[in-house]
Amino acid sequence: MAFAATWLALREPADRAARDQTLLGQAIQAAGPSPVVLDLGCGTGSTVRTLRPLLPETTEWRLVDNDQELLDIAASAVPSSSIHLLDILDTASLPLDGVTLVTCSALLDLVTESWLRELAASLRVPFYAALSYDGFMKWEPELPLDHAVTEAFNRHQRRDKGLGPALGPDSSARTTAVFESLGWRTEVATSNWQLGPDSEALQVALVEGIGQAASEVGEAGATEWAEQRVAAAPHSACVIGHADILVTPPPEDSHALR
Ligand SMILES: C[S@@+](CC[C@H](N)C(=O)[O-])C[C@H]1O[C@@H](n2cnc3c(N)ncnc32)[C@H](O)[C@@H]1O
Repeated sequence: MAFAATWLALREPADRAARDQTLLGQAIQAAGPSPVVLDLGCGTGSTVRTLRPLLPETTEWRLVDNDQELLDIAASAVPSSSIHLLDILDTASLPLDGVTLVTCSALLDLVTESWLRELAASLRVPFYAALSYDGFMKWEPELPLDHAVTEAFNRHQRRDKGLGPALGPDSSARTTAVFESLGWRTEVATSNWQLGPDSEALQVALVEGIGQAASEVGEAGATEWAEQRVAAAPHSACVIGHADILVTPPPEDSHALR
């Protein structure tokens, strides 16, 4: 599944505003005094742009994605970073050597639980995963089909997005369960998008995408719903549920990798 740079640019300000600040601060601390940060599924570099001002200038960035076009944009935004065109499914090839923090954003809802288990088995450093969609959506004003479209969209979120049957709205709960089963400390915080009429362009792109996905899984009214939502966007507000997670290894495992 390809992600458009225009979509990633639209969502970046909402993502930045939504991140839980306490967990973000803890992740920055967890990166240590000489951070080496690996960003999985980096896209155009949204996470780097958010974290970089909070970390030392000497921080080393390793950016991983399987989309060369997105990586090219990320590379120009963060010239000092190293760029890795890789499939994250191949966990053995991830450049983990010496890494002090692994991070990602808007990624965990795309992955499977077995991939999470593989990743967890290969990590010995904190993992900060921001902005995973959690299945909750609410609009003001409401429309009669809001609930049905949300249910349909959530079914679509569980389809294979190129990494296997996706965890979708279950990703935070499953991530917590996987890492806790290995003795890691886990912290979860809410990072909902709170969009108002000033985010009209993002709302329009969002409801068009939701409508299309809901149609694909058989929600008959989804197209009309999306048209109504687009028309209402200049005076609508919505909450889109997301969660941030920070997992930290047990003390005896806390050292740089491999
Ligand atoms: C929803 S986007 C999030 C991008 C970025 N982290 C952000 O917050 O803007 C998901 C990203 O994961 C990347 N991705 C999806 N499947 C991948 C895979 N198998 N290996 C590496 N990257 C992948 C996509 O190319 C895309 O950049």
